[in-house]
Amino acid sequence: MTSSTHPEYDYLDYPKTRPRDDFWGQVRRTINGRPVGQAQIDMIVAQIRTALALTNTDMLLDLACGNAALTSYLVGECAKVVGVDHSAYLVDVALEHFHRPPNTEFIVADVADYLASEPTPERFTAALCYGSFSFFPTETATRVLHLLHQRFPNVRRILLGNLPNKTYANEFYRQRGRKPDRLDSPYTQIGIWRIPAELAALAEDAGWNTTILTMPAAFFASGYRYDALLIR
Ligand SMILES: C[S@@+](CC[C@H](N)C(=O)[O-])C[C@H]1O[C@@H](n2cnc3c(N)ncnc32)[C@H](O)[C@@H]1O
Repeated sequence: MTSSTHPEYDYLDYPKTRPRDDFWGQVRRTINGRPVGQAQIDMIVAQIRTALALTNTDMLLDLACGNAALTSYLVGECAKVVGVDHSAYLVDVALEHFHRPPNTEFIVADVADYLASEPTPERFTAALCYGSFSFFPTETATRVLHLLHQRFPNVRRILLGNLPNKTYANEFYRQRGRKPDRLDSPYTQIGIWRIPAELAALAEDAGWNTTILTMPAAFFASGYRYDALLIR
């Protein structure tokens, strides 16, 4: 790999190289290689809480939940959270550190396969996909949005969080002294960059209305990422 290429996606192997309790390091929520501070996490949780308007009767689906360190902040905000991730290792960390039965459940699966096969989809009322949607190949992303609309009739709101905004990709790479690299690939450490209108079109095709949200300026990635709130 040369310095001009963005590193490959490695969420299946990389987390195993980090200490078992380096939760933010495992999911690369880092600044210059160090885990982000609590203030950054608090901003993320506040955004999720406000966007999804969670109450204690909500059943939340956390798609690509990773090690559930972020999920853990939402457990007290709703009746139950079900986290799904295709990394058996990260789900194992979730089970070891963040499982609070009966309020949590964790499943190892590809998100689209899970959504197609969940036996009681009507139990869910809200969904979250934080820092992960850009890693889904477009075919998977499209399937996810359609399945959520078709099979999960009571999911009224979905938050797709921390999406890389293609509008700012050139500036992102310029600041790092590199050329924009594979912006349309889900297999880099950033995944697919989309302008908000592209994301909204994908969502609309599946039946969702989209509101684009930004994070406070103090959020470490606010300059090149956005969130998308999808409402039925
Ligand atoms: C940056 S981590 C984010 C984890 C968590 N949502 C958070 O914000 O802390 C991205 C996660 O997406 C998961 N992932 C990527 N593609 C997936 C897929 N097709 N099905 C399930 N999980 C997937 C990875 O295993 C990884 O845990």
